[in-house]
Amino acid sequence: MEMEDTRPFGHLIDLDAFPAGMVTGLLATARTIMSKPEYYCDSCHGKILATLFYEPSTRTQMSFQAAILRLGGKVIGFDNPGNSSVSKGESLKDTVRVISNYADILTIRHPQEGAAKAASLFSCCCVINAGDGGHLHPTQTLTDLFTLSETKGRIDHLTVGLCGDLLNGRTVHSLAKTLCRFPGNRFVLISTPELTLPPYVLSVLRDSGCAFTMSTSLLDSIGDLDVLYMTRIQRERFGAEEEYKRQKGVFVLDAEKMRHAKAELRVLHPLPRVDEIDYEVDYDPRAVYFDQTAYGMYVRQALILHMLDGAKKATPPRLTPEGAGLCPNPRCITRVEPYLPPLFTFGTGYVCGYCDHEV
Ligand code: NCD
Repeated sequence: MEMEDTRPFGHLIDLDAFPAGMVTGLLATARTIMSKPEYYCDSCHGKILATLFYEPSTRTQMSFQAAILRLGGKVIGFDNPGNSSVSKGESLKDTVRVISNYADILTIRHPQEGAAKAASLFSCCCVINAGDGGHLHPTQTLTDLFTLSETKGRIDHLTVGLCGDLLNGRTVHSLAKTLCRFPGNRFVLISTPELTLPPYVLSVLRDSGCAFTMSTSLLDSIGDLDVLYMTRIQRERFGAEEEYKRQKGVFVLDAEKMRHAKAELRVLHPLPRVDEIDYEVDYDPRAVYFDQTAYGMYVRQALILHMLDGAKKATPPRLTPEGAGLCPNPRCITRVEPYLPPLFTFGTGYVCGYCDHEV
């Protein structure tokens, strides 16, 4: 059962919660900040952002840190749970309840799917999902959309190739779910049959009426694309190393394939890259993945301003620790934090309110 949210602040767990107009509004704010950064250097004076990173991160964590510092705020947090009380067995609930007393905004990255949603139930301040396992990564999507709006001039009427690990790549899930809300976008899903999009993302695409095709050849598809979104095979999400080895190196973008692409193609990648984009592509002006990392900081500045606007800290509502227990997804946060209350939503069937897995 979904709990009523009575707190005077919002969270960003899934970009679904932000109407399309709000998303474009954030991009407009990011553009203004980028053109006049000095106007914003004191906007978050006295505010503290906490980074709770239970999983490795370079860009997301540091761009959040740079974003709050450039807005005149401060940052606290950990990037290695081994150095925090998590190593002593502290639950996610307790860690979040404590840290959210110290901060005005909390960013969390965690290996379990639905962890950010779980954190939001116990936080005294707004929570931003900075990646929950192989589920979602909404602020990377804001980064990707800002990159598209700056380098293509639009986020609609685009043919977007999503290539690589579409099953485990959380950036792809958030991006596909958001882009399908803008008119005229269509997707070419380029992956091996084993690593195509998970059912909960495919069903969002189908329900949106957005056109998509599946392909197993990057070379055959590249000529049709306005945008190519490359991703790495997510080694850490594979149960067996042999399966990872079978999947890695299947899709590699190189200068030869770029010769078959449109002159206006833009190549994005959330990074880190492993071997899926040859270094020679970096010198092609159509490759914008390093610019993308810079855009990510500005759009996170815009997001922080939006989230803190009028937000007041509040004690989270008291929850009965019934235990969810029912989600069949072994990667769901409910499997490792058993006190979580049951949370289900009903669409075509029951889905877990933490990880979107069908129940
Ligand atoms: C991505 C992530 O962590 O999901 N990186 C990022 O946040 N920029 C992509 C990845 O790790 O492959």
